[in-house]
Amino acid sequence: MSRETYDAVRSLTVELCRPLALEDYVIQSAPECSPAKWHLAHTTWFFENFLLTPLLPSYRPFHPQYGYLFNSYYETVGTFFPRPMRGLLSRPTVEDVYRYRAHVDEHMAQLLARLDAERDTETAFRVTLGLHHEQQHQELLLTDIKNLLALNPLRPAYRAVPHEVSVKIDPLTWLEFPAGVHAVGAQSDGFAFDNEMPRHRVLLERCALASRPVSNGEYLEFMRAGGYRDAALWLSDGWRKVNEAGWQAPLYWEQIDGEWWHMTLSGFQRVDPHAPVCHVSYYEADAFARWAGKRLPTEFEWEALAASVPVEGNLLESGRLQPAAASNASHQLFGDVWEWTSSAYSPYPGFKPQSGSLGEYNGKFMVSQLVLRGGSCATPRSHIRASYRNFFYPADRWQFMGLRLAS
Ligand SMILES: [Fe+2]
Repeated sequence: MSRETYDAVRSLTVELCRPLALEDYVIQSAPECSPAKWHLAHTTWFFENFLLTPLLPSYRPFHPQYGYLFNSYYETVGTFFPRPMRGLLSRPTVEDVYRYRAHVDEHMAQLLARLDAERDTETAFRVTLGLHHEQQHQELLLTDIKNLLALNPLRPAYRAVPHEVSVKIDPLTWLEFPAGVHAVGAQSDGFAFDNEMPRHRVLLERCALASRPVSNGEYLEFMRAGGYRDAALWLSDGWRKVNEAGWQAPLYWEQIDGEWWHMTLSGFQRVDPHAPVCHVSYYEADAFARWAGKRLPTEFEWEALAASVPVEGNLLESGRLQPAAASNASHQLFGDVWEWTSSAYSPYPGFKPQSGSLGEYNGKFMVSQLVLRGGSCATPRSHIRASYRNFFYPADRWQFMGLRLAS
């Protein structure tokens, strides 16, 4: 684990905050979202709590109550401030939080300078985990800012990205693979979360996955065909949600004079029919697939296909910050949108959570959520891989979530 890698990840978080006004840092637009200020502090707390306090003898915490304010959900570490109230904290100030980051970075530099990663594999692993954790929060920071700016009638852009002429996409084709036993889960080389392990075998029937994600244009056909009004297309929980929430389109969509527009991180834009549809819940993805006479892939079908594909695509580094149309040849398995799968977020056979408090990182969430695969336009390139399992509740829509059909 090098100092350069640590500095690169930590400074990217700060870089992502650069377009924000001071006021943007503080507001929490929904209970599931967090203020940018909280993301900046919580990722810092992770290094303080899991590395500096236990492992650097000279270290003194920056503030005695920051552990309470910036612990997210680690019950074995201590109590924590209620999540839905994170946006009510005007103190510590943004400036205080940046000073907290500088304090922790300075001491992490000392710890990294002493670290013999070959011998102290546990510490090296925790540093790497802290950086992957921070990368997860880089994506959340962007999706939470999008949620915040989208509710503002001024429709502010987070960062104006030059408008690109859309690529006209080809009709869907199908990528078939034969029935057989496939190995899934993390390979032994490189970092992986505990929820990707152990690697194990699964039996897959013959199946076919679509050559690209479902586009906005295809999703508009579903909407125009009355998809949101036909109970027969929906799971019972989904139909209840459609009616309770009044869903008629993906999150952030708005119809003006018969045309669909949507809020993006570059401001309010006309919906590009060729780009992958985004900000749909599992329920909407499932209803679309049923309407299309297809289904959603399982996470293992997705992984079996993605394992042979290079990890490249419209990821955070492209700078687009929204899903984009691409040629059929790229398949868009990585980047653009996280793809809902029909797989429950459950432990793999033989799953063992990490020991100690870090065992709370993933394992305790393995109920009532579904797995999404492939990363999005807000996922850092070095953070995603074929075995990566993201997970959200079926009604969630604020992440860059889309779908790919299977048959
Ligand atoms: Fe976290």
